[in-house]
Amino acid sequence: MIKEVPSLREAKLFSGNSNPVLAKDIADYLKLPLSEALVSRFPDEEIQVRCLENVRGKDVFIVQSTFSPAENLFELLIMMDAVRRASARTICAVVPFFGYARQDRKTKSREPITAKLVANLITVAGATRVISVDLHAGQIQGFFDIPMDNLTVVKILGKYFRDKNLKKPVVVAPDVGAVQRATDFAKEIPGSTQAIFVKKRLSPEEVDTSRLIGEVNGKSVILVDDAIHTGGTLISAAQEVLKRGAKEVYATAVHGVFAKDSVDKINNSPLKELVITDTVPSTERQPSEKVTVLSVAPLVGEAIKRIILHESVSELFEKD
Ligand code: R5P
Repeated sequence: MIKEVPSLREAKLFSGNSNPVLAKDIADYLKLPLSEALVSRFPDEEIQVRCLENVRGKDVFIVQSTFSPAENLFELLIMMDAVRRASARTICAVVPFFGYARQDRKTKSREPITAKLVANLITVAGATRVISVDLHAGQIQGFFDIPMDNLTVVKILGKYFRDKNLKKPVVVAPDVGAVQRATDFAKEIPGSTQAIFVKKRLSPEEVDTSRLIGEVNGKSVILVDDAIHTGGTLISAAQEVLKRGAKEVYATAVHGVFAKDSVDKINNSPLKELVITDTVPSTERQPSEKVTVLSVAPLVGEAIKRIILHESVSELFEKD
């Protein structure tokens, strides 16, 4: 019996409207053209989708982050429905930023678990696999009963900061939820020490970071978080470490969501540099000289390549 040899040519890569530049960069990494689809709006603003290429029997990858507005999530769902009904063989939702993940457990009565709801929606719409980058909480993987690859940019961010050769760097988690991420990052920075804030969230826009465990006096601080929304967490933590004698403060977050006037706040903050990735596109929302954007295209592209070629993906998200 002749064994079928997997080929990149069997794959179709589509983009929704949330990450067109990143999708193109991923396509370039794979040396594949982006497949054509109409992802538009009816006159009443409802989403209209039509896949303009044959996908029968193909492995389909749809690149679409699900940051707000919810139309981004809805586009992804509708695009998957289109390719499922057009007989795609497999459908992989490539969601570089998995939004609606902050409510991932009930912390108070009568709260939803929105991350689980979104996982259900993605699965019901037809996904046979999901790729994401640095989920807000790793356990969100378990909300899916299909293969779910949670890639991590820790090595990309680690290399960037390693190359700075900072003297006496201390990696600081701005809250307890960021400790694992900060610990993984610290492993990439030889000679670094660690500290942790005990953050209290007073409201979606206000945090109290007055309690710090660890020493930052005279050191270069690198704050490590998964996302920046209002900037409240990182800016408040930056101010606190400076009060405690830190020499300078850098910050890194995987996802630059940048709500409201957060870019102005970053510009006016004591942060020396904020390093993020392009899981949420660089737009006029973040035209700051303080913000450096690193690309996840090679990481995501490599994961897609390995999935198509039936090779191991694990080393892309395994930590040493
Ligand atoms: C919280 O659980 C997250 O890890 C981030 O700390 C949070 O999303 C940052 O939000 P903001 O920039 O609004 O403080």
